[in-house]
This record gives sequence, structure tokens and C-alpha cells, in this order.
Amino acid sequence: MGDRDVPADGWCPESVAAGYDAPGGANAPEVVTPAVDVLEELADGPVLEFAVGTGRIAAPLAARGVPVSGIELSRAMAARIASKPGGDTVDVTIGDMTSTRVAGEFSLVYLVFSTIGNVTAQDAQVEVLRNAAAHLRPGGLFLVEVGLPDLRRLPPGQDTVPFAVTLDHEGAGYVGFDQYDGVTQQFTSNHLTVSPDGTGRFRRIPVLYVWPAELDLMARIAGMKPKHRWADWDRSLLTAGSTKHVSVWKKG
Ligand SMILES: C[S@@+](CC[C@H](N)C(=O)[O-])C[C@H]1O[C@@H](n2cnc3c(N)ncnc32)[C@H](O)[C@@H]1O
Repeated sequence: MGDRDVPADGWCPESVAAGYDAPGGANAPEVVTPAVDVLEELADGPVLEFAVGTGRIAAPLAARGVPVSGIELSRAMAARIASKPGGDTVDVTIGDMTSTRVAGEFSLVYLVFSTIGNVTAQDAQVEVLRNAAAHLRPGGLFLVEVGLPDLRRLPPGQDTVPFAVTLDHEGAGYVGFDQYDGVTQQFTSNHLTVSPDGTGRFRRIPVLYVWPAELDLMARIAGMKPKHRWADWDRSLLTAGSTKHVSVWKKG
């Protein structure tokens, strides 16, 4: 934990929030813009982002004139939204997306960047979908973007999949790996960052992975029916080789 980190901010306290908006990666325009395009097209009135973070998606969507609200656990993350173009109009409520209610009825609720997996109990994931449905007007849409478990990359007898091993010319390094428990569907996302002076930081984030069919069942429990399932924001077909999906359910 950094000096300014507080436990109430969960896995994204100040020390994480401070680096979250670094250029490139998930913040690159070629990643953000296709998501915002789809969300803008699906929106038919006010929208609500669960786990809105620093407004990576919410701010540019609001900048296009869509009324955006957000629920976010971490004050450190949420504090960064207002300074972004469009972010000053995003109405953020600090709270847990399993139970926090915000005023109003929404045309679209969305939960992106695999954040459903940060809710690490199945009953609690069901509550996320119930809470989404509770915020939707009849016929409203709930969208989830989530990675598919990388179990096919596990060699027999092993439980760990490395996804990044990098070293820059100044000697700073990063190692990222996921470790799976195929019985409980829990996995940990592990991030080891080493500075050029040799000091390092190890973060281990627990995740509950979820299959598309489980989400369909949770949606049904919450009173929603499948409407779209894509392999990505480009609306491509989901196949056995896909690494993620973007799925949409309709209330009622
Ligand atoms: C990977 S970030 C995604 C942020 C943003 N949606 C984006 O796409 O950049 C995950 C965010 O979810 C928030 N979060 C995790 N669990 C949450 C919960 N139960 N309720 C609300 N926010 C939560 C974290 O604080 C963090 O800001």
C-alpha cells in the first residue's frame, strides 16, 4: 500500500489510480473509441456505468452528449473523472455496484473491462445483474465486456498463465501472470513491477471468472434476456478462439 492509500478504495487506491490513465494500453484511442461508439449507439437516454473508475469510457461518452452516471467503489479512481473532457458532467456515486442505487431510470447500464470478475462470489455477481436491472427502464439494456478464462493456455498439470514479461532499457521490469483454480473458478491476477533500483511491488488481485452461459443465467434471474453477443466491440462473431466477449441483455 502507498502512503495515501486507504482500505475503503479496495484494489484501486491512490497508488493504482495515479498510474491508471497512463497513455497507451487500455487508454489508447483505438481501444476506447470502438467501445464508446457501441455504447453511444445503444444509448437511448441516460446511461449508468458500474465501476466507472477514472472515467476512461464514461468521460468520452459524456463528451458526445450522452447523460452518464457512474457507481464506483474507489474515491481515488473517481476523483480523476471530472478533470477529463466530458467528465465534469458525469454524475458519480461512491458505492458498491452490488447494492448501491442511484436516482433515475436508465436506457443502458454497462460494466466493462472484465470488472464483473472483481466481484468474487457468485451470489454477489447475481446481485450486480439484479442491481443493473433495477436501474433499467423496461426494454433497457445491460452490457458486459469480460475476458474469457484462458484455461486453454494452461499446460497439463500447471495452474499459471503468464501474460506479460517485459524489461526496459533502464532496467525496469514487469511480470504479469494469472493463476487459476479450475474447481472454484477463482483466479488471481498477479502483477510484479520492478524499478531500475531493484525495488519492486507485487500486487495480487482476486477474481471470480465467469462463463457466458453463467451470465445468461444470472441475467435471467435478474429478469433480462440475451440480445447481443459479440467477440469484441467490432461486433465480430464469438468463436471458440475468442479471448473476450461483449454481451448485451434486455430487461423484460
Ligand atoms: C479495471 S477498473 C475499470 C474502470 C473503468 N470501468 C474502465 O473501464 O476503465 C475496475 C474498477 O472497478 C471498481 N470496482 C471494483 N469492485 C467494485 C464494486 N463492487 N463496486 C463498484 N466499483 C468497483 C474499482 O475500484 C476500479 O475502479
